[in-house]
Amino acid sequence: MAPLAAAGLHFILFLGSVRENRNADRVKNYLVNSLAKYNVSVTVFDPRELNYTKVIQPLHYYEKPEDAPERLRNLSDVIRKADGHIVVTPEYHSAIPPSLTTMMDQFPPASYAFRPAAIVSYSKGRFGGIRAATHLRTWLSELSLVHIPSVLAIPKVEEAITKEGKTTNKLVLESTDALLGELVWFARAIKTHAQVRPLQYKGKAHFGGDKLSSG
Ligand SMILES: *[C@@H]1O[C@H](CO)[C@@H](O)[C@H](O)[C@H]1NC(C)=O
Ligand SMILES: *[C@@H]1O[C@H](CO)[C@@H](O)[C@H](O)[C@H]1NC(C)=O
Ligand SMILES: *[C@@H]1O[C@H](CO)[C@@H](O)[C@H](O)[C@H]1NC(C)=O
Repeated sequence: MAPLAAAGLHFILFLGSVRENRNADRVKNYLVNSLAKYNVSVTVFDPRELNYTKVIQPLHYYEKPEDAPERLRNLSDVIRKADGHIVVTPEYHSAIPPSLTTMMDQFPPASYAFRPAAIVSYSKGRFGGIRAATHLRTWLSELSLVHIPSVLAIPKVEEAITKEGKTTNKLVLESTDALLGELVWFARAIKTHAQVRPLQYKGKAHFGGDKLSSG
């Protein structure tokens, strides 16, 4: 299936691992390559690079937003301006890894509100991290994200995807097309509609990455 043209959209890819020898980079490289086919530009939020390893004072815990570190406010703006998100997760003991929630919890639901989110899970074993993906649906809803119907769960990730992010695995390729096709569809639908009917989040004009107002 030829990918939908999606020029002009911008997505964020959130990674959920800081482990040594993590497989997150395979999946990241694979998805960045795949998004290029759709002409979607992408920013990677990597907990290893951002160094958000504890949740001490998230953005919304500052009394006045301008008291928050500039870097945190800037990153929130990047999230608010994105048209959609891809959340990439391994599975730790059937659950969501702490590095993912620690990074994403730095920002309030207002930063994420109403954007479509796709879940990509992976594991070394047979189940592809699907149990973490299932937990993620509940959690992403709490962040005010709208998760799309499809999930991409990648089993035996070390066999399925090379370090450079290449795959010939038919199941992975087909599921990726389905996932990205849906995400692009939702992203474009919400973006277009919001131009006619601007979104309100808790009574405040929200859409379009306007200046942080609610913290
Ligand atoms: C992506 O952009 C290039 C260059 O603008 C264009 O040739 C190509 O058709 C686009 N592909 C899609 C899927 O939109
Ligand atoms: C995060 O930590 C790494 C290693 O300690 C360092 O190289 C990097 O510059 C830090 N990044 C930021 C944004 O502080
Ligand atoms: C925050 O963003 C502004 C405007 O783009 C930039 O000038 C500033 O250097 C950024 N600050 C940090 C800490 O990233």
